Amino acid sequence: MVILDGKATSDKIKLEIAQMVKERVEAGGKRPHLAAILVGNDGASQTYVGHKERACSQVGFKSTLHRFPAEITQDELIEIIHEINENDDIDGLIVQLPLPAHLDEDAVINAIDPCKDVDGFHPMNVGKMTLGLPTFLPATPYGILRLLSEYGIETKGKHCVIIGRSNIVGRPLANLLSLKDDPGDCTVTICHSHTKNIEFFTRQADIIIAALGSPGFVKGDMVREGAVIVDVGITRVADSTKKNGYRLLGDVDFETVAPKASYITPVPGGVGPMTIVSLMVNTLKAAECKKRK
Ligand code: GUN
Repeated sequence: MVILDGKATSDKIKLEIAQMVKERVEAGGKRPHLAAILVGNDGASQTYVGHKERACSQVGFKSTLHRFPAEITQDELIEIIHEINENDDIDGLIVQLPLPAHLDEDAVINAIDPCKDVDGFHPMNVGKMTLGLPTFLPATPYGILRLLSEYGIETKGKHCVIIGRSNIVGRPLANLLSLKDDPGDCTVTICHSHTKNIEFFTRQADIIIAALGSPGFVKGDMVREGAVIVDVGITRVADSTKKNGYRLLGDVDFETVAPKASYITPVPGGVGPMTIVSLMVNTLKAAECKKRK
């Protein structure tokens, strides 16, 4: 069994990006600039945005965090997005999700300039991705594909079972892995909360990607010998022995699944750091994208 080390892989990619930024700046170019919008006080969202800001500084990007109280109105938020869209110094914009319930997430995402949509959430970019056209790929799926490639894991002709159908992870991954591409060329099954007899599907899988947000959901008896296991889960549970007061649990029961797996991602240190570095890749791409609108 091999651990898919997302931390080490992302550190390597960050060094590559930092080098590209250095060359860009030495050639008279400007530093890529990522703007993030954070609404409200959700603890997990604050942590994720903090990780994104730290990664920006590690690779030499400029980053700006726009924080707003949970009470911000839809119109106010959209006005700010329009201002960022018009600001030529900013290359990429992310709005950290989820948003408070009174805000319309779809309308907010629609307001982002597709050329600055480094999360790849705008319908125009989702459409391009689905067609296999060049665009910003959503960071978690992109990071997973990169991790599989870095470890030379063949996907062609493999049966990939994805558990979870979110717009951020499950659905885009299903699209990407079914494309005629490398990684890709998979036979894909999407399982979700209404799937009956989920073990029937997971036991046939060459690759299982668990992205449902239910700690320890995938158990050893649901997995065939030699499967590749990718764990996207990052549920926080209280833990007084930890400095920050919580620990992260994946969707995979590592103890029973790892002995059967050929490759497996740990939590933490697997998919999480690959997500962050993929956002950096997208931001660099946005900065290099000459065409605006
Ligand atoms: N919330 C959970 N994952 C993500 C992500 O990749 N991007 C944004 N903007 N919000 C998220």
